[in-house]
Amino acid sequence: MQLQGVRIPVSYDKAKVVALTGTPGVGKTSVAKILSKKGYKVLSFNEIAKNLGCIIDYEDDCYVVDIEKLKRKFNPEGFLIVDGHLSHHIADVAIVLRCNPLILKERLLSRGWNINKVMENVEAELIDTILIECLETCKEVYEIDTSDKSVEEVAKIVTSILKGNAKDYAPGKIDWISKLGDRIDEVIRR
Ligand SMILES: Nc1ncnc2c1ncn2[C@@H]1O[C@H](COP(=O)(O)OP(=O)(O)O)[C@@H](O)[C@H]1O
Ligand SMILES: [Mg+2]
Repeated sequence: MQLQGVRIPVSYDKAKVVALTGTPGVGKTSVAKILSKKGYKVLSFNEIAKNLGCIIDYEDDCYVVDIEKLKRKFNPEGFLIVDGHLSHHIADVAIVLRCNPLILKERLLSRGWNINKVMENVEAELIDTILIECLETCKEVYEIDTSDKSVEEVAKIVTSILKGNAKDYAPGKIDWISKLGDRIDEVIRR
């Protein structure tokens, strides 16, 4: 998606909560594990929702979270990274991991997910669904194309953004539809 007039990232240092977000399968939890090993305080969105009594259902292998209740109850102390595809709803800053939909499709199919659930997520990645939610909910948003990077490389980029080296990761540079060209058929074909 090409974004015009999007807010330019500014310093992150007033942020308390940074969301590590993105479509399921992009690598959030893998990166979160590395950040945790590096000494960052990292929690999973589902754990937070569970601990605060904000899970209202379990549907299609996913927790259904009462986000409004969670926003009211969530009041963390100190700097915190939250891993999860809904984490941007409770964060000041969002770091959105992106993944080429062709790669993501293979990854989600190999997780054994049914085709409807795979396609729902692949199409969401294709049309920037989570990025747009982040732009609506967070003060600062960054995005990282993880497609040709290792988990370690992505974790390194996240830490560099957290240290303020964020200018290369302003939102709006990733446009899967243009990048895929004719190969978009392979993405949307079931
Ligand atoms: N940068 C990457 N390169 C290759 N494989 C990756 C990368 N990031 C994640 N994976 C793999 O993709 C799968 C999904 O990763 P995971 O961290 O669980 O994603 P998420 O938490 O976003 O759903 C895992 O099998 C993981 O090993
Ligand atoms: Mg995960």
